[in-house]
Amino acid sequence: MKKKQSIKKNYGQYLPLYNLGQLKSSITPFFGGDIKTDHHHYLLEPTTENDLYANHMSRNIIFTIDDEMYFLNGNTYLQQNDELQVEYDLLYQRVVRSNTLFSIESLSFIPLHDNLELLEVTIKNTSNKNLTLDVITAIPIYARSADNIRDHRHVTSLLNKVEINEQTVLVKPTLSFDERGHHLNHEAYTVSAYSPTTKVNRIITSLEDFIDGGSFNFPKGIYRKDFEPKPGYEVIGAIGFEPFILKPEETATFNISMGIFNQNEDALHIINKYKTKKSVEEAFKHMRNYFEAESSKLSISMVNKDVELLLRWVRFQPVLRRIFGNSYLPHHDYGRGGRGWRDLWQDLLSLILINDESVETLLFNNFQGIRIDGSNATIIGDKPGEFLADRNKIVRVWSDHGAWPLLTTLSYIHSTGHIEFLFKQQTYFHDQFTHYTNKTRDIETSEHILRVHNKPYLGTILEHLLLQNIVAHFNTGKFGFVRLENADWNDGLDMAKNNGETIAFTHFYASNLMKMAEVIEKINRPVRLFKSLYDLIFETIDLKTFFDNVSDFKDTTVEVDATKLSYQLVELYKKRIDHINENAWIKDTHLQSYITDSNVFLDTADTMNLTGQAMALLNETLTMSQAKSVADTTKKLLFNKDNGGYHLNSNYHKIMMDMGRAFGFSYNHKENGAVFSHMAIMYVYGLYNYNLVQLGNEGYKSLIMRAIHPDAHTVLGIPEYFTDKGVGKYLYLTGSASWLLKLLQEQVFGITFYYGKLTLNPKLVREDFINHRASIQTFIHGKLIKITYINLKNLDYGAYKIDKVLYQGQPINIEHTKIEGDIEVYLDEL
Ligand code: G1P
Repeated sequence: MKKKQSIKKNYGQYLPLYNLGQLKSSITPFFGGDIKTDHHHYLLEPTTENDLYANHMSRNIIFTIDDEMYFLNGNTYLQQNDELQVEYDLLYQRVVRSNTLFSIESLSFIPLHDNLELLEVTIKNTSNKNLTLDVITAIPIYARSADNIRDHRHVTSLLNKVEINEQTVLVKPTLSFDERGHHLNHEAYTVSAYSPTTKVNRIITSLEDFIDGGSFNFPKGIYRKDFEPKPGYEVIGAIGFEPFILKPEETATFNISMGIFNQNEDALHIINKYKTKKSVEEAFKHMRNYFEAESSKLSISMVNKDVELLLRWVRFQPVLRRIFGNSYLPHHDYGRGGRGWRDLWQDLLSLILINDESVETLLFNNFQGIRIDGSNATIIGDKPGEFLADRNKIVRVWSDHGAWPLLTTLSYIHSTGHIEFLFKQQTYFHDQFTHYTNKTRDIETSEHILRVHNKPYLGTILEHLLLQNIVAHFNTGKFGFVRLENADWNDGLDMAKNNGETIAFTHFYASNLMKMAEVIEKINRPVRLFKSLYDLIFETIDLKTFFDNVSDFKDTTVEVDATKLSYQLVELYKKRIDHINENAWIKDTHLQSYITDSNVFLDTADTMNLTGQAMALLNETLTMSQAKSVADTTKKLLFNKDNGGYHLNSNYHKIMMDMGRAFGFSYNHKENGAVFSHMAIMYVYGLYNYNLVQLGNEGYKSLIMRAIHPDAHTVLGIPEYFTDKGVGKYLYLTGSASWLLKLLQEQVFGITFYYGKLTLNPKLVREDFINHRASIQTFIHGKLIKITYINLKNLDYGAYKIDKVLYQGQPINIEHTKIEGDIEVYLDEL
């Protein structure tokens, strides 16, 4: 299932490529984008959004044809009317650029295990005369850390050592530049080019010589017959070929590779594996087979082919974020690798759906990031258990962070039935911060593990969960709602640290207490907790005393009876819900979401934040009639069908220094009121919780239909948000993808598990069926199974019930039969 497009203009569309090694790329039909293994190792110059229109620092090839220069990237005055056909799929890009003289077909992908991107280019003479061709690659080799883009850019070029080996330019900088302590560089960055048609006749490595008084658009040095590598300069991989004649209909192929290799790898040996068309074909097949197999692990057939194609990519988006973090793609120009705490838990939601074997280990490891005061490390490195306080070394507390782990853990427990996970013992994160990071202390070790009497303190996963939720629950402000701290889910609400409150996440934490009460009741065995946590839960100490106690943690543990604990959690929940009901409503129509740093409720009867409504519905803290009012008002105040659906907030028409940077953004962009996929989908999930199916269906369909719309320029998958023009931004790397998959599986297809027990409760609408069928292939108790709903009478949601379930043509009762293979579920009138 491919996406084919005819492209007229460059709208900055890009595609991610990666492999099972370390290589990650972004690539555009104009060959922009970059290639790297991590923040400190970029082969091509790091690309931000604007660079997508200035592609000379990227993959380029210059063809001199009968004395005129043509570029692979099309950036010459002669090529402005070229036709461009692009084909994308998992995980490659094919481009055919054609004009009256020639066509150039290219294929770009990364082999599954070797850290080099391949570019196979075939030029064909489509005219009726002989063409004389001179071909030279024009690929600047950046070969250093993204930090050096404007930090000693020139000085770092002085470190460049260049070798020419066969048809490869190898750059091995002497040092990896870092003023805090330079170290020896161990990486080699390469560009190679081969052709069966013609021989290499020059290799220019100095960018200065290549440009030779011209410019990137009109380089004047490309015909110089150099073969001498020049150290200490900006490098280009300009590998030139002997001119040749291409007759009408004849083709010539060039196999180019761009790689990053560490000192333990034999770069030339790896490069040599991909010199020929045949070897590239094999690597391509191998890569395709892998992604096809992965793709089958969660595939959905519904609505139409466009929707199916979109969902095929949505399925990969959480995987992409695991690989790319919140970095490494052109819109994500702030990231340095790693992921935020919240994103880690969101991405796990979909790994649970695809039964990824690493889920339990990842989940378990993540709990190591929780501090004994209930806060947590915020940035997670590439390796399991690698946590940092924060990206910019500014320590912050996001008030929503404590809420997500329970949601993800329960999702895991319900789908597997593995409730014992809650009793696994895990350490706590330890650094200089105490009192919810408001105070610091001196620490002697860099080990990051909390110890008591020199032994790591271990608490159960359940203790970690209770800790995060109880501390957040009691961390309230003047109005009795959870303090906003440095922001909540909305990173842009970052200027209300003193008095800000998040009513939105107050719902979430309250509901989490209720959910934990239910689990504890179900387990029905004593729960061991450290003493200060026990005291806090039972309100014999306040939060301040708790923070003081644990700042020098020496607690013993106590055992608490399950019923007693569960009862207390329910009491706390009820009190808080009463408080919300009394204080958070605007005229019974919708909910307040925030209190500003100036101690004012943010919204009025005419304004709204989606977050407050979404968190209430998602966590089912409303009655049915409250939910209906909220849903009606939200549609009235925030819904815009053509632009993707639900906006994140109303337009406040002002900068709010007492709320956050978001309101400094123009309205309808990013966290100031854009159609923000993640919150919109969580809101829709909440609508389904209350069976508000028509509204929910309209909500998520608006979003995916906008993503598919050609004017959204999203290429594939769903973007983080849509602008005022309905253009998708921050492609691929978004927590909304996990939520869309979760929504489809659990709500739309109605496949849910309760402590491992499966139920089917579809909420598909009439339009979801293709030829009376809608299906999902997903994991049921660890087995990949296709569930097909069959709606022979074209019934809409509300008019059907499950009539029978067939396995191998025989009726089964899913309550009592273990599903062993694909099933068909027949729907019939109620
Ligand atoms: C991003 C961040 C997420 C944050 C959201 C709103 O996008 O990754 O952590 O909560 O912005 O500020 P998302 O992943 O939700 O698309």
